Amino acid sequence: MIHQPVEKNNMSRNNFFSVLKHEIDRIDKAKTSKRFEKIITGFTKEKSPKAIIGKEKYQVFNSNDYLGLRHHPLLKKAEREASEIFGTGPGAVRFISGSLKVHLDLEKSLAKFHKRDDAMVFSSSFAANLAVLYCLIAGQNKDSLVDNNVIVISDALNHRSIIDGIRVANLPKEQRAIFKHLDPSHLEAILESNKKIYKRALVVTDGVFSMLGEYQKLKEIRKIVDRFDKKYENGVLLVVDDAHGVGIAGKSGRGTEEIEGAKADVLIGTFGKAYGADGGYVASNQTIIDYLRESAATYIYSNSIPPGTAGAALKAIELLDKPVGKKLLKNSKENVEYFKKRMKNAGYQFAADSSHPIQPVLIGDPVKTSELVRKLFKKNIIVTNISFPVVPKGRDEIRVQISAVHTKGDIDELVKAFEEEKGINSL
Ligand SMILES: Cc1ncc(COP(=O)(O)O)c(C=O)c1O
Repeated sequence: MIHQPVEKNNMSRNNFFSVLKHEIDRIDKAKTSKRFEKIITGFTKEKSPKAIIGKEKYQVFNSNDYLGLRHHPLLKKAEREASEIFGTGPGAVRFISGSLKVHLDLEKSLAKFHKRDDAMVFSSSFAANLAVLYCLIAGQNKDSLVDNNVIVISDALNHRSIIDGIRVANLPKEQRAIFKHLDPSHLEAILESNKKIYKRALVVTDGVFSMLGEYQKLKEIRKIVDRFDKKYENGVLLVVDDAHGVGIAGKSGRGTEEIEGAKADVLIGTFGKAYGADGGYVASNQTIIDYLRESAATYIYSNSIPPGTAGAALKAIELLDKPVGKKLLKNSKENVEYFKKRMKNAGYQFAADSSHPIQPVLIGDPVKTSELVRKLFKKNIIVTNISFPVVPKGRDEIRVQISAVHTKGDIDELVKAFEEEKGINSL
């Protein structure tokens, strides 16, 4: 017999539920609730698929699927084929029931793509960040030979998964430092002032910052890290989460590393954005990957991605170096430039001069920004508004994300919609 929870008004846990309800009310009143999501029931079959919401079709300008690969027939075929061979789910974690060949093929292909010794696949790049940071900052149990005699230095605008990875490692406050956003000289000052205190340092940053489409100054950071490596007994490691860069940034889609001409020691990526699939990965030298396979809890005790998804991701990597991928990368760059030029002609400004598909249209006021997003939605266009505290006050923006499969006509329609709503500035 299954025992149901007793639901009576006098149960003490109702007090806790009441606290939770008040917390939800507080979030709703602050207008920061995220749970009222749009429900997409399907996509149209066009070259640049529109999202179907209710009875309407919407042009999607807020997706990380920068190359349009999630709707690509070759990825769908690869997904189906892998599911036919391996089933729809992994069955168990890898150390229990074995690795599926498609996961190993994907890891080999990633290592080759990023020119690293090896790579490993995680259920998400959030899970990869948690593991990489926890495992490289601290030993995983009392027998571990890895100590936490380390200073961790993180860019001020790093992604939540990096922040949480550092939190999980539970270092004392003085061993966690933040360098000013995109300010390598501040990073340098922090490395300098800690060099006699800690045995090693770990520098961690996003490759692309997703609110403005900015690239981290990886080349400068790489040089600083290498210079300070000799000044710390156990060196300095550079960890880069390039979730928005891999697959799309650079001439061949190798990411921020290609844009900047500098490499990370540990590279984290996601399949859930430009590759059009899902899941995360880490690429690095053999020692780091072997150590992570022995210590990363989100890899050892959590399932890998479904085989179909791995098959789709593998196909995406393969396509990037083929004419079809090269054409998509070229289209992406042309579309971005076309959009920027047209918006500037329409009198709009950008919050940053980004060459990434993330294009931050500066509005500068939270009410006007959300009103404009609402108006564009009425014109069947989906974009995202970003306001304080995610960006500074007065830098409210509409984040437009341009895809390689958007047609010039789609972009024209978007710009026309912005032009028609120009009066928003006089609200
Ligand atoms: C920089 C960065 N890291 C990690 C993630 C998480 O990616 P995933 O969906 O693979 O967990 C994101 C997604 O927004 C991101 O922007």
